[in-house]
Amino acid sequence: MKTVVITGITGQAGSYFSELLLEKDYKVIGIQRRSSTNTTERISHLLDDKKFSLVEGDLTDPASISGIINEYKPDLCVNFAAQSHVATSFEQPTTTFEVDTIGVLNLLESIRRHSPNTRFIQSSTSEMFGDNCSYKYNTPNGIIVSPCMVFNGSWGDSEWIQDENTTFNPQSPYAIAKLAAHHLVGLYRKSYNLHASCAIMFNYESPRRGEKFVTRKITKWIAEFNKWYEPYDGVLVHGQLAFNQDWDNRIYGDQCDNVGFPKLRLGNLDAVRDWSHCKDTMRAVYLMSQQDEPDDYIISTGSSHTVREFLNEAFKYGGIDNIDECIVIDPSFYRPAEVEFLRGDSSKARRILNWEPQVSFEELVKEMVQSDVAKSKTKLRSQTISNL
Ligand code: GDD
Repeated sequence: MKTVVITGITGQAGSYFSELLLEKDYKVIGIQRRSSTNTTERISHLLDDKKFSLVEGDLTDPASISGIINEYKPDLCVNFAAQSHVATSFEQPTTTFEVDTIGVLNLLESIRRHSPNTRFIQSSTSEMFGDNCSYKYNTPNGIIVSPCMVFNGSWGDSEWIQDENTTFNPQSPYAIAKLAAHHLVGLYRKSYNLHASCAIMFNYESPRRGEKFVTRKITKWIAEFNKWYEPYDGVLVHGQLAFNQDWDNRIYGDQCDNVGFPKLRLGNLDAVRDWSHCKDTMRAVYLMSQQDEPDDYIISTGSSHTVREFLNEAFKYGGIDNIDECIVIDPSFYRPAEVEFLRGDSSKARRILNWEPQVSFEELVKEMVQSDVAKSKTKLRSQTISNL
């Protein structure tokens, strides 16, 4: 039986990847940071599996990481641990570098010294491209990609993409820390002949997405909004009745009180993202780990949407049609520097890994809304407004 060590085991990616590798009959060792609160919600269904275990460790502590790699000498090590919130990286740049760069260095050094046959996969990110794009166009002689152009803002009809040859131009401490780690992986692959690869993953989402990311923030708000109106409308009608009756009494400016419900506060709705389902992305990571040669791959759907489009789609599934009444544009959610446009060209992964995403944008949004609506039903109404 093969062994995989997974960092970031309690997160969205760690949980789906664990499920996949248990199915593939791997023994899964998850590295979990010490915490006084319970962080195993996403993996609680795996805890009784005999092939699954957790060990305490911290990526920023070289002794802890090298001890684990030395003990298990795993066939595969996949790094999903990160300070992964872009906006937070502007507030906590040093922590971001410690986890997202030094942490990766600790893993690579541990593998090099103690287990050089371990295959390693790093979670790189589309954020590394920042504001840079390539332009892909058809010619009579085939498709040409100009790899290095600044996105000119008219993405709608054009073929702006990012692929493995697009020049990186990171726009946040997070992206710069990830880019440093990305280069370290390439360097260790070349210098020490390690089987080390980077999955350059575009945004991946699911019902297990953290609640601070824009997709989950939206779907959770919709579910809690619907829940909030249940007692007023008698039955859950997905907010629809709120529009038939006395809407103004229910949403009060920015306030929340006994009757009203806080509006959904968002930042830049024009940002464009290439959103995939986390399960699809994890299948690609697994396929990468099975290749004879290590390499870097873009993992993306190739189609992108604005935050506003996500909002529209989610509200549609939530049964709420008066979006403008429900949201407030809050400048505090704007970032000091923004990545306006991400759309990945994953042709290489599709060709070499024989991979393609299976879940459409619409199916993803629907699943996230439905999951949050189902979760909110199990809560008391008094628990409804949380972290909005
Ligand atoms: N989080 C958040 N909250 N984002 C908002 C909001 C808001 O209230 N309003 C608008 N946005 C915009 C952000 O400015 C950004 O342009 C977009 O929504 C997506 O934001 P996030 O969901 O926070 O994700 P991200 O794209 O910044 O980063 C995610 O994807 C990267 C891959 O491209 C994270 O998962 C990163 O860890 C990952 O590397």
